[in-house]
Amino acid sequence: FEIYCNYESYEGVSEASFKDALVFDSSQRDNGSVHQENGIKKHRTSLPVPMFSRNTISVWSILKKCIGLELSKITMPIVFNEPLSFLQRITEYMEHIYLINRACSLPDSIERMKAVAAFAVSAVASQWDRTGKPFNPLLGETYELTREEHGFRLVSEQVSHHPPISAFHAESLVGDFVFHGSIYPKLKFWGKSVEAEPKGTITLELLKHNEAYTWSKLWIEQYGTVEIVNHSTGDKCVLNFKPCGMFGKELHKVEGYIQDKSKKKCCIIYGKWTECMWSVDPQSYEAHKKSEKKGENRKQKQEQKAGQNDDADDMPEVQETVCVVPGSTLLWRIDSRPAHSATMYNFTNFAMSLNELEPGMEAILAPTDCRFRPDIRAMENGRMDDASREKERLEEKQRAARKDRSKSDKEWSTRWFGNGTNPYTGLQDWLYTGGYFDRHYQDLPDIY
Ligand SMILES: *[C@@H]1O[C@H](CO)[C@@H](O)[C@H](O)[C@H]1NC(C)=O
Ligand SMILES: *[C@@H]1O[C@H](CO)[C@@H](O)[C@H](O)[C@H]1NC(C)=O
Ligand SMILES: *[C@@H]1O[C@H](CO)[C@@H](O)[C@H](O)[C@H]1NC(C)=O
Repeated sequence: FEIYCNYESYEGVSEASFKDALVFDSSQRDNGSVHQENGIKKHRTSLPVPMFSRNTISVWSILKKCIGLELSKITMPIVFNEPLSFLQRITEYMEHIYLINRACSLPDSIERMKAVAAFAVSAVASQWDRTGKPFNPLLGETYELTREEHGFRLVSEQVSHHPPISAFHAESLVGDFVFHGSIYPKLKFWGKSVEAEPKGTITLELLKHNEAYTWSKLWIEQYGTVEIVNHSTGDKCVLNFKPCGMFGKELHKVEGYIQDKSKKKCCIIYGKWTECMWSVDPQSYEAHKKSEKKGENRKQKQEQKAGQNDDADDMPEVQETVCVVPGSTLLWRIDSRPAHSATMYNFTNFAMSLNELEPGMEAILAPTDCRFRPDIRAMENGRMDDASREKERLEEKQRAARKDRSKSDKEWSTRWFGNGTNPYTGLQDWLYTGGYFDRHYQDLPDIY
């Protein structure tokens, strides 16, 4: 089950036979990597060093200069970053890919839609409490991630600098699904929050079922509506990410439903994007809401009578804050973050592993892979001054390259993705042109 070390020997072999090789040749192993006894590769679960404290700097003094400006155009001190490129951050979408593997295996289409909906919600869960800004990718920067134990591989590329556009393409190692999208992180500062314009489309194709789903991505401030559309029929799932509301009562809440082509609600989906998602049939949900309302009225009256009644005994022991309707099915629950997460940018275990340069990788990754970015590497290792210097150098190098191109009338051309039309939405999209995993890296730009 080791593949990084074997890539070289497969160079020039078609993708199909590469997949076969993956399945059959599990005997060869990379000497350098760590394996668990069951042969599954163990990825690192922490960063080399804890993060640099931000407390010494007045965040507000810097932020107030930025009100109303587009975040991508602001040069912020590196201390507000987290040591990941935006290309790596969007790869965190893949953390709960088991939900897609589950969807592939389900014979019932509504059940599949539930799993896809849970996946779409779970994808934003890793953002929770992550205040560090990922590094803007350089034009031509790439990132790849292969996880045999989760059955996928992914490649992404920064295809445009102004506006910044990141395109990614992930595929099942056994041909079950293709998952791709292009993301435009248009962010604005409005005093106390970062506002995001959800742009770009996410497409998921379940190949065996001949189904395609699309939705748009929410970024950072998770509120608004996401519609997941099954393009074969026009059936859809509507998910409403609620704004915080009065006294934070609605904080992190997501509620929605799946409707069939006759617009009949088949099921209700609810929960919190920071915790868990449940599904239940609409009748049970409505019944529960009604009884809850009655209960609330009764309780209020009782409280008025009893004066300061102490309700503390009724509080559940666990920190679960989603009220579960009887008869619900759990779709997804978040994994708890490791204890050291608080000193490591609130990263999840998955995020901790993303910038790891495993032994043997160096010879195999494209030279444009963000694991080779010296600024991110320096920051990860706690060398903040080096990180800052390197970041400036890279940005300067990018500016100089752009100037050169404009002088010579040379256009930038993307390498692994092309500007095309999404076949399901009919909208402009960046689509994978293939070949990355053949590992022919000639003519890649020197961006570091
Ligand atoms: C999606 O489309 C497929 C193919 O037409 C259909 O069989 C299925 O019922 C739809 N699924 C959902 C959840 O609407
Ligand atoms: C991590 O989360 C805590 C709240 O749980 C928050 O106060 C802190 O600012 C977060 N740190 C980062 C680096 O995002
Ligand atoms: C992509 O193609 C569309 C037309 O299909 C065009 O409007 C758009 O400018 C192109 N974008 C880039 C970055 O080439």
